[in-house]
Amino acid sequence: MIEFDFKELSPADVLEEWQDWFNSDHTQEYTRSGRKIKIAELRESVEQGKKQGNQVTLGIRDVRKNHIFGTAKLGPIDHVHGLADFAVFIGDKNYLGKGLSSRLIESGCEMAFEKYAVRKLHGGILERNIASLKAYTRAGWIAEGVLRSHYNNNGVYQDWIMISKYNPRLYSGDEFSTHAIDLAQYLDK
Ligand SMILES: CC(C)(COP(=O)(O)OP(=O)(O)OC[C@H]1O[C@@H](n2cnc3c(N)ncnc32)[C@H](O)[C@@H]1OP(=O)(O)O)[C@@H](O)C(=O)NCCC(=O)NCCS
Repeated sequence: MIEFDFKELSPADVLEEWQDWFNSDHTQEYTRSGRKIKIAELRESVEQGKKQGNQVTLGIRDVRKNHIFGTAKLGPIDHVHGLADFAVFIGDKNYLGKGLSSRLIESGCEMAFEKYAVRKLHGGILERNIASLKAYTRAGWIAEGVLRSHYNNNGVYQDWIMISKYNPRLYSGDEFSTHAIDLAQYLDK
């Protein structure tokens, strides 16, 4: 089993060669429009997050090989409402399809709840991003709603599925761990 950890990134840690990750086909549904993230943009986002203290960008490291194979972003953290998003991205294709994703997400959630006292993690997934939908729901996230035909991803309007994970130290009822919509409409396509 691949052992991983998260390393907080500074702009200088972001490598030019990661551009290949963002150009890869498997990232088509990562951004809402399907646009490809640029390295300069990632560096800028890391820097801004540090300056404003509301976003943490992490490298996901294979501990044994000391190799960063993806990134994760916690934020923006909204301290008033106790909200944040947590997005994972496996860039190095050698690490895709190994069932790592839900472990990464679970571990990131634990960090968000324990270290950053986040009350509720929330985000959105495009309907065709099945890998992401499976990864997050396997890590205990629930689908709370859907915005139909919402974003134009490479010319195709897709549903935007709103997902959440409530801090289990604060919430325990079934309503906080049960999907509010039927995901079979996406998973069984
Ligand atoms: C989302 C992501 C982290 C998942 O990683 P992964 O290595 O594919 O995940 P897993 O190996 O755990 O596989 C998850 C499931 O998705 C399936 N899957 C993977 N790619 C798929 C695809 N293109 N279409 C349909 N299903 C796919 C896998 O078969 C697996 O399902 P199974 O276990 O029922 O067979 C990775 O695809 C990624 O980094 N994507 C780009 C960034 C992104 O979209 N992040 C989420 C932000 S919302």
